[in-house]
Amino acid sequence: MKKILAYISAIILTVILVVVGFTFRQVQQQKSTLVNDLQYRTSLLADSFKESIRTPYLSGTTTSVQAVLDKFAGRERLLGLAVYDNRGGLFAMSVGLPQNLVENNNIPEKAMDANSVSSDFSDLNGMSVYVLASPLSQDSKVIGALSVFQRADYIDDNISEIWKTNLLRLLLQALLFSVAIVIIFNWVIYRPIKHLAEAIRQARSGKTGNESDIQKGNSFFKPIVAEISKITRSLVLARNSASEEARMRLQELDSPWTAERLKEFFKAYFKDRQIFVVSNREPYIHRKIKNETVWVVPPSGMVTALEPIMEACGGMWLAHGSGDADKQTVNNQDKIEVPPDEPKYTLKRIWLSEKEIKGYYIGFSNEALWPLCHLAHTRPIFRKEDWTTYRKVNGKFAESLLAEIKDVQRPIILIQDYHFALLPEMIKKARPDAEIGLFWHIPWPSAEVFSICPWRKDILNGMLGADVLGFHTQQHCNNFMETVGKEIESLVDLEKFSVTHNGHSTFIKPFPISVAFTNGAHEDDKPESEVLKNLKLKSKILGIGIDRLDYTKGILERLKGLEFFFDLHPEFKGQFTFLQIAPPSREGVEKYQKFNDEVTHEVERINEKFEDNSWKPIILLKKHHTHDEIYPLYRAAQVCLVTSLSDGMNLVAKEFVSARNDEAGVLILSQFTGAARDLKGALIINPYSAEETAEAIFKAINMPPSEQHRRMKKMRESVRDYNVYRWAAEFLGSINRLD
Ligand code: G6P
Repeated sequence: MKKILAYISAIILTVILVVVGFTFRQVQQQKSTLVNDLQYRTSLLADSFKESIRTPYLSGTTTSVQAVLDKFAGRERLLGLAVYDNRGGLFAMSVGLPQNLVENNNIPEKAMDANSVSSDFSDLNGMSVYVLASPLSQDSKVIGALSVFQRADYIDDNISEIWKTNLLRLLLQALLFSVAIVIIFNWVIYRPIKHLAEAIRQARSGKTGNESDIQKGNSFFKPIVAEISKITRSLVLARNSASEEARMRLQELDSPWTAERLKEFFKAYFKDRQIFVVSNREPYIHRKIKNETVWVVPPSGMVTALEPIMEACGGMWLAHGSGDADKQTVNNQDKIEVPPDEPKYTLKRIWLSEKEIKGYYIGFSNEALWPLCHLAHTRPIFRKEDWTTYRKVNGKFAESLLAEIKDVQRPIILIQDYHFALLPEMIKKARPDAEIGLFWHIPWPSAEVFSICPWRKDILNGMLGADVLGFHTQQHCNNFMETVGKEIESLVDLEKFSVTHNGHSTFIKPFPISVAFTNGAHEDDKPESEVLKNLKLKSKILGIGIDRLDYTKGILERLKGLEFFFDLHPEFKGQFTFLQIAPPSREGVEKYQKFNDEVTHEVERINEKFEDNSWKPIILLKKHHTHDEIYPLYRAAQVCLVTSLSDGMNLVAKEFVSARNDEAGVLILSQFTGAARDLKGALIINPYSAEETAEAIFKAINMPPSEQHRRMKKMRESVRDYNVYRWAAEFLGSINRLD
């Protein structure tokens, strides 16, 4: 719209310039006509006055000359007359003629010198006066001069009147012109294009738009409209056959899971039931950047996994609205259709106060539960007030969700992560018919570790409100069963892997989460060479690490490993560069602020130790990168390092594998990630050992292509076979089997 306004303004500006140009010309012409006319009339007058004063002047009597002058002065625009002797001295002047006007001009002298008429404009207190002097002569000898003073201010008045009228007319024209342009633009271009865009969008998102929608508008676009109608029709047909194929594939266990197949699976097993996802982190954050509202996908493994599922199945996602432009982009029910450029499901944003964020998110979720569940040797901080706020915020989400499912029968609720341990029980109590799955995206510690939490029983009771409780690995499930057995009175069935508590059973199962497996194809992908050029990377071998700046990711340990590698193998100086992308995370948490500084200092220290004028061993980019920016980097890297100290799954490892359709590159993977169980082709390391990490880097860099290929192929098969659609189908399937 801004551009359109700019175009309209440019047109109007051009019109204004043209009109002003023409007016200027008209004014010039009018001025010269008026001046010519004044000159002509004045010189006629001067000639006739000269005749009348000749005799009295020759007689030399001032009074008789004065009498003649007074007789003519004051008529119409004639301001007065004056007679000068042949030395330029004033001889006589009409009454009332200002003295300074008569004396302060040299026009009579000029006329006498040239023995011809001389004239000019003069100023009388801001009024323009036309002065014309004509020589008086006798026997071809100049004997004096007569000056005629005419008012000329009417010329200026006339000119400014022309400007005024023309500019007023111009203003009116510009106004009418703009209104006409806007109306024409709206009817002829904007509305038809809007209809077209809406129809295409509907066709893209799988909704069969009304064909008349496309036809709506104007015959102006008829040829394009006809073509687009055909394209959308073919799109609908293609979509129908894809879903038919996916329906047929439902029974074939070996065929790969796709978004279409998941959609068909959902339709077949859940019919018209609706999915509601609840998470703390929202899938799309709206931000204000330089007066423009933009959206970003946050760095979160949970979002990476859940987003494609919601795109496939539709439904509603409830999450904390954390962006500074989030409120401006929702409707009056705090909802927005997403993805923003191709809506497929509804995002409902829930607003939290600063105090709620501090207690529930920063405090209990990230200073207590996160370090409690991750074995990264960071002490959890348990504050009573954080716990109270955590409970309150879980209640707030419960209230909002209950309002949404009020009229929905047997809703399917998928609760995500450690931010909502209490939510399953709250929902189950209010809506026993709701089928609830809770997926815990982070590890579950041993019973002993968990026993330090002062509110452990409430947390377990809250979680056991779910019908299905999912973890990434069997080990986490085992830990949970052991914890429940130790902490609460319940029936723990190790055969069915269920816990029955207060008459309700919860099934505990591993569902190793994954990525969509795009097979290397990514929208807007840039070629690797361009990406490396932009980064000014010159060395032959690139290593990459992509992690939120989180102490559980083992970034400091990785840096130690890199230092050890360059100490051991100085021949790789200038040859190998490690690129660490580390978007800042949870900046409100003190531990993360410190960690951020530590990583920066460590990178600086190592760089100073090894760098030369043209090369640095480590490039640290503490900025969020989109998937489109990251995928070419995955493909350009020889080695990807994932060195988490404790990680539920780690989807960076699976994304790297998914991006490598060239079946090259080596993944170095910490043994403490869930992914280490799935990705057998990786070089598995203990990240606490700098020696092991350095050795693995050396091995990766020197690995023959055939071995890379063998390992990568194996890992790609695993990710392709167990992609996120299959994860969702198994998780949803386990909820369905409850019936
Ligand atoms: C982990 C959690 C997610 C979380 C993500 C990013 O992957 O399991 O639930 O969204 O970290 O953390 P943040 O606090 O920024 O959402």
